[in-house]
Amino acid sequence: MPTSLELLELAAEASQRAYAPYSKYQVGACILTESGEIFSGANIENISYGATICAERTAIAVMRTAGNHRIRTIAVHTPDQGWPCGICLQTIAEFVIDADSTKIVVPSLNGFIERSLRELAPHLWSSDLVKKK
Ligand code: THU
Repeated sequence: MPTSLELLELAAEASQRAYAPYSKYQVGACILTESGEIFSGANIENISYGATICAERTAIAVMRTAGNHRIRTIAVHTPDQGWPCGICLQTIAEFVIDADSTKIVVPSLNGFIERSLRELAPHLWSSDLVKKK
């Protein structure tokens, strides 16, 4: 099983493949699934800025398209050690078993910092009125 630092290295590699001609801010994400598979993604911008896809959601699209849908850990590399945005946290939540055991990892000066999805997003949108099919 890869370590958090190894996942961060893969996220940093993925960030090199970002398409970020507008912000020049390259982000990479690397997912470790519950079954031990790894999927990476980078941010993909668009001249119509709102069409931009964050690195985390690109990685999730790759994961889901490969037939996997359970995130255990997601490592995120940004130029300034940022955490995933709110839309990405909500999207991560769609593909986890539970928010307490799902880990989000970002680099720090001493290595890395790890937080649960629940810690970063304690009030995720979830309603029994909206049913999954
Ligand atoms: N971005 C991500 O890839 N992930 C996030 O969680 C937040 C922001 C991207 C979007 C845009 O291409 C660039 O970072 C600058 O906001």
